[in-house]
Amino acid sequence: MNILLTGGMGYIGSHVAVVLLQAGHRVVLYDNLCNSGIGVLARLEQITGKTPVFIQADVRATKTLADVLKDHAVEAVLHFAGLKAVGESVKKPLDYYANNVEGTVSLLEAMLDAGTRTLIFSGSATVYGDPHYLPLDEAHPLSATNPYGRSKLHIEEMLRDLSVADPLWRVVCLRYFNPAGAHESGLIGERPMGVPNNLMPYIARVAAGELKELSVFGNDYPTPDGTGVRDYIHVMDLAEGHAAALAWLVRHPGWHAINLGTGQGYSVLDMVAAFTKASSRAVPYRIAPRRAGDVAACYADPGKALRELGWQARRGLLEMCGSAWKFQNLGA
Ligand code: NAD
Ligand code: UFG
Repeated sequence: MNILLTGGMGYIGSHVAVVLLQAGHRVVLYDNLCNSGIGVLARLEQITGKTPVFIQADVRATKTLADVLKDHAVEAVLHFAGLKAVGESVKKPLDYYANNVEGTVSLLEAMLDAGTRTLIFSGSATVYGDPHYLPLDEAHPLSATNPYGRSKLHIEEMLRDLSVADPLWRVVCLRYFNPAGAHESGLIGERPMGVPNNLMPYIARVAAGELKELSVFGNDYPTPDGTGVRDYIHVMDLAEGHAAALAWLVRHPGWHAINLGTGQGYSVLDMVAAFTKASSRAVPYRIAPRRAGDVAACYADPGKALRELGWQARRGLLEMCGSAWKFQNLGA
C-alpha cells in the first residue's frame, strides 16, 4: 500500500515507519520537524535499507497535503502529527487546538479532496480521564482534564461525526497507553527537546548522569508501593499494532476505538528497578510531591485489540528499558 504518516519523523511515527517499510509498503513521511530532526531519515534507511519519501510541511497546509496525497496515490493515512505535552497545553491551549484539532480538520479536508478515506488516528488513554474502574476498556466514559486531552477527545468526536455523515470512511482511533523503549538497533527512539516530562526518557538521562536524580511524583497513592502505576508498552509492539490495525481496517468501514496497551501496570519504582537492571547504572531518586493532574493508576483492558486485530504486546519491561538505554548511548 501507499501510506502517508503525518508526524512520521517523530518518536512513534518513525517506529511505525520501520514496521511498514519492512512489510513492503511505500511510505511517505509528512512532518514539519517542530519536534523531530532530519537525521531520523538516514536512521530509517540504515535500519530498513529503504528510503521513504519525506515532505517537510505542516498538516495545516491543506493544499500541499492534498497534492502530496494525490501525487503519491496515498491509500491510507496514519495521523501522528500533533503536540503532546500536557503541562505545556495548560499554558498554551491555542497551540494545542491549532496543531491538533485544526491540523486534523485540514488533514480530513485534504483527504476528502484526494479521495482517501482510510485513517488511523493516534489517540490516547488520556481520554478516559480519572478511571472509574480498571482495567480501562473502550466502553469506559470519556472525559478530559487538560487542553491536550480535550484536543484528543474533540478529534475522536469529529472523526465519529464524519464517519456517520459519510459511511465510506474507515477510521480507527488507537488509544495508546504509555509508549516506552526504542527500536532494538538503538538508532531511533524518544528524544524530547529540553528536560523530559515523561518518566522513561527522564530515567534514561539520570542513568546516563546527564540529570542528577529522578523526582518520584508522590508515594502516597493507593497503589502497592504508593507510586503511580501505568501501562508501559514497548514502542515496537505499538508499531506492530498499527500494522495490524491497517490490515483490519481494510475490511471494517466506520469508526472504531481500540486500546493499545499491555494490560499490565507497573509503578514508578518498578520502572526505576527495571532500568537499573537493564543499564547496570544507578538511578538516584527522591520522593517529591504529587504532580497536578496525575491519576493513581491507569492500565488497559487489551482484549478488544486481541479479538479484533489479533494483536497483543509481546515485549516486556526489560526490553523497553534495554532498548531505551541503547538509544540513550547510540542514537540520542
Ligand atoms: P513526537 O512529538 O515525537 O512526534 C510528533 C511529530 O509530529 C513530530 O515529528 C513533529 O515534528 C510533528 N508535528 C507536530 N505538529 C505538526 C504539524 N502541525 N504539522 C506537521 N508535523 C507536525 O510525538 P510522539 O510521541 O511520536 O506522538 C505521536 C502521536 O501520538 C501524537 O499525536 C501524540 O499525541 C500521540 N500520543 C503519544 C503518547 C506518548 O506518550 N508518546 C501517548 C498517547 C498518544
Ligand atoms: N513520573 C515521575 N517523575 C517524573 C515523570 C513522571 O514520578 O519525572 C511519574 C508520573 O507521576 C506517573 C508516571 O511517572 O505516575 C508516568 O508519567 P508520564 O509523564 O511518563 O506519563 P503519563 O501517564 O502522565 O502520561 C502519558 C503521556 C500522555 C498520555 C498518557 C496516557 O505523557 O500524553 O500517558 O496515554 F496521555
